[in-house]
Amino acid sequence: MDLEQADKQFVWHPYTQMKDWLQWNNKVIVKGNGFYLIDTDGNRYLDGCASMWCNVWGHTNKEIIDSIITQVKQLQHSSLFGLGNRPAIELAEILLKISKQMDHVFYSDNGSTAIEVALKMSVQYWRNKGYNRKNRFLSLEHGYHGDTLGAMSIGYVPEYFRHYKSVLRLSKRISPPKSSTLDDFRIHVKQDYIDNLERFFSKYSDTCCAMVMESGAQIAGGVNVYPYGFQKAVSELCNKYDILLVVDEIATGFGRLGNMVEYLAQRSNPDIVCMGKALTGGYSPLAVTLCKNEVYSAFLSDYSENKHFCHGHTYTGHPIGCSVAITNLRLYRKHDLVENIRRNSIYLRARLKEMQASPVVGRIVHKGLLGAIDLVNKKEKKQEPIQSLDYHGKKISTSNYIMREAIKMGVFMRGLGDTIVIIPPLAIGKRDFKFLLDVICELIKKIEVMV
Ligand SMILES: Cc1ncc(COP(=O)(O)O)c(C=O)c1O
Repeated sequence: MDLEQADKQFVWHPYTQMKDWLQWNNKVIVKGNGFYLIDTDGNRYLDGCASMWCNVWGHTNKEIIDSIITQVKQLQHSSLFGLGNRPAIELAEILLKISKQMDHVFYSDNGSTAIEVALKMSVQYWRNKGYNRKNRFLSLEHGYHGDTLGAMSIGYVPEYFRHYKSVLRLSKRISPPKSSTLDDFRIHVKQDYIDNLERFFSKYSDTCCAMVMESGAQIAGGVNVYPYGFQKAVSELCNKYDILLVVDEIATGFGRLGNMVEYLAQRSNPDIVCMGKALTGGYSPLAVTLCKNEVYSAFLSDYSENKHFCHGHTYTGHPIGCSVAITNLRLYRKHDLVENIRRNSIYLRARLKEMQASPVVGRIVHKGLLGAIDLVNKKEKKQEPIQSLDYHGKKISTSNYIMREAIKMGVFMRGLGDTIVIIPPLAIGKRDFKFLLDVICELIKKIEVMV
């Protein structure tokens, strides 16, 4: 079978103009090896975006593979509808220890469903307590929480979601504070901003059940690292105005921003927390929604009162996914991964500083193993973002250009519009990380001569 041809014929790819795809020299990955993906011709590509931000240890980690084999021989799947299973129970205990302030774990399959769980939990929490009017949400502009209808209603990113606006029940949104940047990374949230935020909370406290926000930083809707004190201030206002705080650690938890649990580092006190992506190191689809006793206990009643939580998926608490996550989290401790991330973060900062001088590099944002470089034309007075580039005589989007040029240099990465996003596998070694950053420097140089 010609896999490249069959892929073009049968498969519909996410966020992809398939008309372009049909003309592109598409790659089909048949193998992983360490931090590299290998295609049908044996070409190797560094997994520069951690397979959509979830890969931790690379692709052939023996301990994780062994745990999958052991689990698959023992129990492949048994549903949490009416039954428990060992890995789901053990993982829940581990997650509650790590997250410190949470008391219960609800399982689902991916980040978007973890968010749906959190949204439904928030609405029903207030309803169970007799507050039926509190059924709207608060959120931040440029937030992103996934692609299902509920998640799109909260993190509405117009470029992605405008086609579906008519069926979304949009939340009340407020702009986030100005992002900290490479040079200005110690900034604190301004009092004016907090005062405005308080007016926003006060206005909607009777009708809103929860504030939903990414923890520590926004990524997919526009990279924005929160200034000090912001998440804590939101948390305090939620408390003051009787609004639940839902934090989304799906992309930013498990070390991405240099902390195992970002909301603890932010000194915030959420009621509900969503985790996914790196939870299984990228080896199995699994996500969780954690909550406090206060939330959980509002669902306890006589069955006839109908207060129980009406949510579940076929694969809720999947034993293979849960045993993978247990091994993954054991490896975090064994290798002291968060320390390693912090060391690599210092290296990333130094390399980003070098890139700053380029005439096409605008704002740079950095925290932990997250970096973002806005491409702007600094030669012009207006410093417009570089949204498209010439590719063999045809204009293509900058993110498409980055992906196509990087792959020629042996790296797979995806940009976000006019922003180069650096999100490597969390345990990447120095040599591979240097290679990734060298390729990004090369890309920037290529863009310099094109504008
Ligand atoms: C912050 C955040 N929340 C939720 C999601 C959705 O996760 P998934 O793609 O697993 O549904 C993402 C995905 O990128 C994300 O970045």
